[in-house]
Amino acid sequence: MEIIKTLGEFILDQQRDYPEASGELTSLFSSIRLAAKVLHREINKAGLADITGAANAENVQGEEQQKLDVYANERFKNALAQRGVVCGIASEEEEQFVKFEETKNLEGKYVVLIDPLDGSSNIDVNVSVGTIFSVYKRVSPVGSHVTEADFLQPGHQQVAAGYVIYGSSTMLVYSTGKGVNGFTYDPTIGVFCLSHPDLMIPKDGKIYSVNEGNYIHFPEGVKKYIKYCQEEDDSTNRPYTSRYIGSLVSDFHRNLIKGGLYLYPTSSRYPNGKLRLLYECNPMAYLIEQAGGKAMAGPDQRIMDIEPTTLHQRCPLFVGSPNMVDKLNEFISEHG
Ligand code: AHG
Ligand code: MN
Ligand code: MN
Repeated sequence: MEIIKTLGEFILDQQRDYPEASGELTSLFSSIRLAAKVLHREINKAGLADITGAANAENVQGEEQQKLDVYANERFKNALAQRGVVCGIASEEEEQFVKFEETKNLEGKYVVLIDPLDGSSNIDVNVSVGTIFSVYKRVSPVGSHVTEADFLQPGHQQVAAGYVIYGSSTMLVYSTGKGVNGFTYDPTIGVFCLSHPDLMIPKDGKIYSVNEGNYIHFPEGVKKYIKYCQEEDDSTNRPYTSRYIGSLVSDFHRNLIKGGLYLYPTSSRYPNGKLRLLYECNPMAYLIEQAGGKAMAGPDQRIMDIEPTTLHQRCPLFVGSPNMVDKLNEFISEHG
């Protein structure tokens, strides 16, 4: 019988490599794993139960909340509060950061930033959605209440990041700074199993992922790059293939495995880009760099070097195969 390594075993092995580790990060991952399983269950019956559709509320960004956005937020929040290693979270679905105020939480070293359900407009039409998370050590003293400064840290300070993709199978992909590993959920035994060890993104790709409906509103350099992707040139395998699901997690996951570039630039509609720096761009940037790729907001702006000023701030995102990100940046440098 083939030996399968479970996520639990994998985490314990990693912890053994660090004798000084206290097991708190292990505990944090157990919370995420549990909430992901619960969400997997709910998403898989989305067409049957009354859990699809709008929640008849808006989040802080004025976007319509889906019932599953609200559900996913509660599930992850509760799971992360329970074990006492996390002192607070910030979420796409919460205007302010959430303080966990029990004594065990005040002693917690970590904060988590989360997009509980990414691509939620896809849920009603049975298309893949995800959860994105980012983990930092707090900067305020252990034992005190969590502060906004604990959340407004640049991405290079992350100690872990990852996502869950609820797709044709459910997967958890994460990194603690020693490469990226992917685990596929086996619902028959209720366990995530290591299926994609040491994920590395191809240096070049043939897929570009962008909402081309916004083309007319894009900066000139981005327009010229999109035209470049569509030109015929055998030596560089062009024209490239266009793939856009509209769930960052799904588009990112495909490009990570196959090679490609995801771009959400500034536009006249979204002058700062659409995606959120702290719980969408930074965790994806951490993962892609760990996998040998790049994540930039422009020619000279590495995503993880941006100093955040507000919890829900947006930024442009160019993420994927390093040579493709470089090429796009050449166009932006030349044409603006
Ligand atoms: P969310 O569902 O968490 O609000 O995120 C939606 C995001 C992201 O997942 C996706 O890549 C992007 O919005 C799609 O935006 P457009 O529909 O503007 O292309
Ligand atoms: Mn999202
Ligand atoms: Mn979301």
